[in-house]
Amino acid sequence: MRRSCRSPELQDDKLRSDTTTTLRTVLAMIREMTPRPSFVIASGDLTNHGDAASFRALGAMMEGFDIPVVWALGNHDTREGFHVGFLQAADGTDKPHDHDKVIDGIHVITLDTSNPLRIGGNLVPAQFDFLEAALDTHSDLPKIIVMHHAPALDADPAWEWEGLSFTATERLAALLKERAIAGILSGHIHQDRFTHWHGIPLVVGMGLHAALDPLHSGDSIHSLQGTSFSLCALRESGLTVTCVPLPSDRRELGVVTLDQLHANESARAALFAA
Ligand SMILES: [Fe+2]
Repeated sequence: MRRSCRSPELQDDKLRSDTTTTLRTVLAMIREMTPRPSFVIASGDLTNHGDAASFRALGAMMEGFDIPVVWALGNHDTREGFHVGFLQAADGTDKPHDHDKVIDGIHVITLDTSNPLRIGGNLVPAQFDFLEAALDTHSDLPKIIVMHHAPALDADPAWEWEGLSFTATERLAALLKERAIAGILSGHIHQDRFTHWHGIPLVVGMGLHAALDPLHSGDSIHSLQGTSFSLCALRESGLTVTCVPLPSDRRELGVVTLDQLHANESARAALFAA
């Protein structure tokens, strides 16, 4: 079945659900919330292929949405496509899209964990410099970190694609130790998952494409119908995250073995390196 953004040039055989319709539905639901949220976080994989046309389509869908959005980039995105297609810059850049901003009394620090042509994430030394400098500002405000790839939980090389590289994870843990971080908000693995990571709430949102079946753990990844978004509230007592699941009958949409996943990643890297 062909899935699309309702635009012929963006037909996409790789999509397993109609993400355009889901995004429009979720945006409408958010608009109708009372009270309205003070901002929205889109934690990466904003597109499937990262091309400028897809980012232009996303920009068109966001027209008229008047709630601030914090944009993070994921492994399906490209920095060049984001800058040209979404920010309408004259030229692309491969510079990580790291940024921070105070919104409604919360210091939101966003890290670009995309690692070009790789599924898993990474942070390079300059990004740690950026993070450390940002952490030293707005010391009176609670801090939320947004990053597409969550820190790695285990050091199994077969599963490093699931999150931030082990090296970057270790460095991040050392940097955030002793810091008051209200939460880290991530995506990537298509599951709603909650972890207490070195004392920091680490929340992964399922996103708007498909759900990876948490009941399957082995050498394959099973995609099910299922999407969700989450409502976050930050009180003096800490972060609360309430998931808003959209209807799912757990219908299986596809299976990828880990061998296929790594082969696809290598083939893509070789294609761009050629
Ligand atoms: Fe991802």
